[in-house]
Amino acid sequence: MSQLEKVKELIELREKARLGGGQKRIDGQHAKGKYTARERIAILLDEGSFEEFDMFVEHRCTNFGMEKTKFLGDGVVTGCGTIGGRLVYIFAQDFTVIGGSLSETLAMKICKVMDMAMKVGAPCIGINDSGGARIQEGVNALAGYAEIFQRNILSSGVIPQISGIFGPCAGGAVYSPALTDFNIMTEGTSYMFLTGPKVVKTVTGEDVTQEELGGASVHTTKSGVAHFSVENEDDGLALIRNLMSFLPSNNKEEAPRVECTDPIARMDDLLNEIIPDNPNKAYDMYEVIGAVIDNGEFLEVHSAYAKNIIIGFARFNGQSVGIVANQPKYMAGVLDINASRKAARFVRFCDAFNIPLVTLVDVPGFLPGTGQEYGGVIVHGAKLLYAYGEATVPKVTVTLRKSYGGSHIVMSCKQLRGDINYAWPTAEIAVMGADGAVEVLYAKEIAADPDPVKQAEAAAAKKEEYNKLFCNPYNAARYGYIDDVIEPRNTRFRVIRALEQLRTKNQVNPAKKHDNLPL
Ligand code: HXC
Repeated sequence: MSQLEKVKELIELREKARLGGGQKRIDGQHAKGKYTARERIAILLDEGSFEEFDMFVEHRCTNFGMEKTKFLGDGVVTGCGTIGGRLVYIFAQDFTVIGGSLSETLAMKICKVMDMAMKVGAPCIGINDSGGARIQEGVNALAGYAEIFQRNILSSGVIPQISGIFGPCAGGAVYSPALTDFNIMTEGTSYMFLTGPKVVKTVTGEDVTQEELGGASVHTTKSGVAHFSVENEDDGLALIRNLMSFLPSNNKEEAPRVECTDPIARMDDLLNEIIPDNPNKAYDMYEVIGAVIDNGEFLEVHSAYAKNIIIGFARFNGQSVGIVANQPKYMAGVLDINASRKAARFVRFCDAFNIPLVTLVDVPGFLPGTGQEYGGVIVHGAKLLYAYGEATVPKVTVTLRKSYGGSHIVMSCKQLRGDINYAWPTAEIAVMGADGAVEVLYAKEIAADPDPVKQAEAAAAKKEEYNKLFCNPYNAARYGYIDDVIEPRNTRFRVIRALEQLRTKNQVNPAKKHDNLPL
């Protein structure tokens, strides 16, 4: 062969590899409303930035006549490229090749990009669309999964890991996304479950569809396994790009700072009137968040799960922050098992990746009842407490209204190393609300008077006394638990100034092998 012929052969081989499982299967993928692995990568990465690895890898299995079913690159496309000019590593499972099923060599390809990502400190993004372990490869496929999981574990907290679930993800395969930081699922075309509907039927007798068992809506509303549900793959890929803009490339860096076009000292008069006079009335925390962050741009995480707490990324003066806020409009903003788990994981993510935390507090307490206690709310609530207490990133807390009892402590209070703790004049920082306190302290005394009118008057008088003494920010401010009581409309400026003050914060926890977070 001449050199020119060899170059021609290379070009032909590449073309063949780019066809994956062939045009018919590509058409099949499109017919299901899905992109191919290569199309997904092209949409996700900056144009022309993709550098592919291992295009010529083929599986080595000879069981069940597999030596006749070989495809260049096997069932995954891997490599690196850039998003917004920043390096990322990527693997996208190719369903057109043997259903994207995981072979020994396919796992090896994925592990190679995961190792490269760790070596250079760049995020790793995985697009899942696979029938799971390649059945013909037996234990070699299982070993391949374990190799991937091990890398997920070691990468956790070192580089951001993001999973797009754009097709099937079943059996033990679900554990790789579960070990990553963010899962994005497409509505109607993706599903995740440990055992499929047929096994469910056999074992429990339950009739359930794939969608009901593990579709995007299940995992974003009921289980919390997925953080985002998107209408289609274009939205999912755009979301990954947006998400990346808030994150650093690794745990030694800070998130990129963007130019801020929103005036730093912008005041919003709405905030001076947003808290209703009636303490039992709700208002919408999204309005507060929108009013204080840069340009109202909020990337909410887990928006459909545990809506009593809001988490997500925003910017203050161009700096990426994680927002955690109670939502009085949903279950009065009470903390429960799901809200605690949701917020705790987010706080730990932000802390691992040097993203400051801004916490907006309006919390009446923990949700009481057997359902919560039997479900272990003590341990789950402790997760959030633990997450805030161990976090060493800058922590700015603003208490808007209620901040009672244990939930006051959990929501980034001063003693959990809150750096700057502000309160609005409407804040009520106390052991409990006036109704509960008067009931505990004076129920017998009040009941001793047989006249119901006098009973009501006595109760009202005691509540007023309690409110005056405790249901305000000044009692806590008197002890230095609140650093300043601020005018609500000035919150944006005060948070920005606090974050600026904390830019050089340097706090280190005691050395240990690892912690023992209450799981
Ligand atoms: C080998 C597989 C495969 C697999 C799919 N294919 N999954 N080959 N091993 N796991 C092949 C199919 O045989 C088919 O090949 C091609 O991929 C496309 O699959 P279809 O079934 O035609 O596609 P579709 O109708 O869209 O159905 C997709 C599917 C189904 C629902 C994912 O393929 C399926 O149920 N697959 C098996 C799922 C499964 O049980 N996996 C093992 C899970 S256990 P041909 O040549 O016929 O077109 C597991 C353990 C991991 O993964 C443990 C880790 C710790």
